[in-house]
Amino acid sequence: MTQPLGATARHLVRDDADQVAATAADLILEACDDECSVGLATGSSPLGAYDEIVRRVRAGTAPRRVARRGYLLDEYLGLPVGDRNSYASVIRREVADALGLEVRGPDGQAADPDAEAERYGREVAEARVAVQVLGIGRNGHLGFNEPGSALDSRTRVVRLTETTRRDNARFFDSLAEVPTHAITQGLGTIMQARRLVLIALGERKADAVRAALHGPVDPACPASVLQRHPDSYLVTDRAAAGEPGADR
Ligand code: GLP
Repeated sequence: MTQPLGATARHLVRDDADQVAATAADLILEACDDECSVGLATGSSPLGAYDEIVRRVRAGTAPRRVARRGYLLDEYLGLPVGDRNSYASVIRREVADALGLEVRGPDGQAADPDAEAERYGREVAEARVAVQVLGIGRNGHLGFNEPGSALDSRTRVVRLTETTRRDNARFFDSLAEVPTHAITQGLGTIMQARRLVLIALGERKADAVRAALHGPVDPACPASVLQRHPDSYLVTDRAAAGEPGADR
């Protein structure tokens, strides 16, 4: 475990993806009760933890209802309702349906996206999210808070960087189909969750993880805001922790 001086984010390093999933599931379940709200991130990194929670519920080693509602971290703008790539669809498919969670998120087709972002930000604040699950972009983004996002930013409409669009193009038939804008919970919104659990796997995340944990708390690395949260965890494998020789 590494804990930089003055920082509150705890770094838990595990040997492989299964152990990362188990530790993240422990941290998430510990923060939940059957009536609570959980914040759910898309991306490949949290999938193991989601699967592990579902497995435990089915095996009877976790409560039958782990939470009541799941709140989306972000959502693309402009995808047709029910599109397989909308984050509402992804979260239902990957975790919420299996856990019987009601999914709440911004309407990616709202006529007035700015007003919708504001409405959703208020809804998340009122939900008092017990634990927010997070991944991290290679550039340190959280949700769709790209580098440069104010550390107290509100839930809002954002333009995606080309790096992020290219990274996410693997889920679409072509780069042209990847939306250019999204609504994301702001960094200030994310920080309101009682616990933050960020999951990162693989060498390609090592620079972002290092900056998040050891760099200055600065908009250049949005994930560095975790250093200011009183109950935040980065759960990573050895490769994402930057250990030489890992994951090669
Ligand atoms: C997307 C999501 C982020 C996520 C990131 C990383 O950009 N908006 O919330 O952290 O992907 O995804 P992955 O875990 O697949 O690397």
